[in-house]
Amino acid sequence: MSQVFHEIEKKIINVLKTESKSTPEKLENQTKLSPDQIRRGIEWLRLKDLAIVKETKNIDFSLGKNGLESLQHGLPERRLLELIKNEPQKIADLQKQLGSVFGPAMGLAKKNNWVESIGDKISLNINPSNIPGEKTLQQIGEGSISEDKIDKEDLSSLLKRPDFLIENITKTKEITLSENAKSLNLDSSDSGAIDVEAKAPEVFVARTHPLKDTIDEIREIFVTLGFSEIMGNMTQPSFWNFDALFTPQDHPARELQDTFYLDGITSKKIGTPEQIRKVSESHKKNWRYYWDINEARKMVLRTHTTCVTIKHLAENKLDDARVFSLGRVFRNEKVSYKHLVEFNQIEGVVVGPNANLRNLMGIQREFYRRIGITKIKFWPTFFPYTEPSLQTMVYNERLGKWVELFGMGIFRPEVTKPLGINKPVLAWGGGIERIAMLKYGLDDVREFYNNNLSWLRSATKCQ
Ligand code: PHE
Repeated sequence: MSQVFHEIEKKIINVLKTESKSTPEKLENQTKLSPDQIRRGIEWLRLKDLAIVKETKNIDFSLGKNGLESLQHGLPERRLLELIKNEPQKIADLQKQLGSVFGPAMGLAKKNNWVESIGDKISLNINPSNIPGEKTLQQIGEGSISEDKIDKEDLSSLLKRPDFLIENITKTKEITLSENAKSLNLDSSDSGAIDVEAKAPEVFVARTHPLKDTIDEIREIFVTLGFSEIMGNMTQPSFWNFDALFTPQDHPARELQDTFYLDGITSKKIGTPEQIRKVSESHKKNWRYYWDINEARKMVLRTHTTCVTIKHLAENKLDDARVFSLGRVFRNEKVSYKHLVEFNQIEGVVVGPNANLRNLMGIQREFYRRIGITKIKFWPTFFPYTEPSLQTMVYNERLGKWVELFGMGIFRPEVTKPLGINKPVLAWGGGIERIAMLKYGLDDVREFYNNNLSWLRSATKCQ
């Protein structure tokens, strides 16, 4: 990957290539950059692992007021020893001569057993050639000296004395190039303009799931076509999922292999007494069998959104309406590249005095056109609750074949009459994953639920 460097970085790197190591101050001199530019440049290079910055703290010492005085006249205890070198002296005389340092000088001399007091006099015991602190005091007096060159014991003896030493702390930065930087080839004739073709790291921002995008898009289309959204429960009594839709109680779709039943859970109040009576009459009269209310009470995971449609129509008895619903449905099927046990369905409904098959097909065309599907055809099919019943087939360009998409039809009078719905009802519905597969060019519906990050990142937001 080619890197683009700021002019400041280039200047610093170039100096370091010849100098091997430097300091911010030296770099300032050589590059004629400001301290602030140098500071920033070093920091950028450090973050890119191109420069190594070694910080060192340096302490050196110079003499304070009392240190300077001792340098001139000797350490207080040395002065005391000098005064009694030849003969013992009276304490009072010594006090006079040494002034305020008499006390500390005596303390140290006694502690080290250099002196002895005899009566009111002090006499010499030992005259040490070297007193702790003496040598260092001399060294510092000759010029400041750094901590590491000083005798530790000497230093601590001086540091204990007030105003003897002044500590000067300096921090230095040593800058060297890292191994990575040594092989860099900078073109210093470059104007420093931004290289618009330089590779940039890929950034993966948070995004919505492609399936969610499809759901939102479909909802948007319905709303712009003047439909309102209705909602219903994912668990339903069989009554609304099947019976109200004129699906006989021995219909294969109602078997356990096709429908998920909530084990042992039944619904007490499945509808109004009138709804139950009329639906059961419709079954008895038209299918000619014994209708069992206990079968209708069994709770299921809804197998389609048509249960939401029929319940809404039965409860609202609309004469003129455009509604849609959208949500999860469940089918006890073997999972494969084209089947999931739970998937999303969209369902549209138009009620109106003049609603007819031609309208239904027109709405389908418009809906598909808005999604971007134009090659469609209608095919006759069967649903227990619609007559006529159709299914749309759409052409999958990539697979080169027709695939079925929505089921649709006009609700049969056997469905509408018992529930007091008096106007023609057009309804259609189908799987959203199917549509999303077409949009995203997928061959396997399971991909939507695999959480495959590389696919999720690559699936474009706009088709
Ligand atoms: N409910 C049908 C299905 O699940 C679709 C459909 C809806 C058919 C409305 C006719 C009317 O596929």
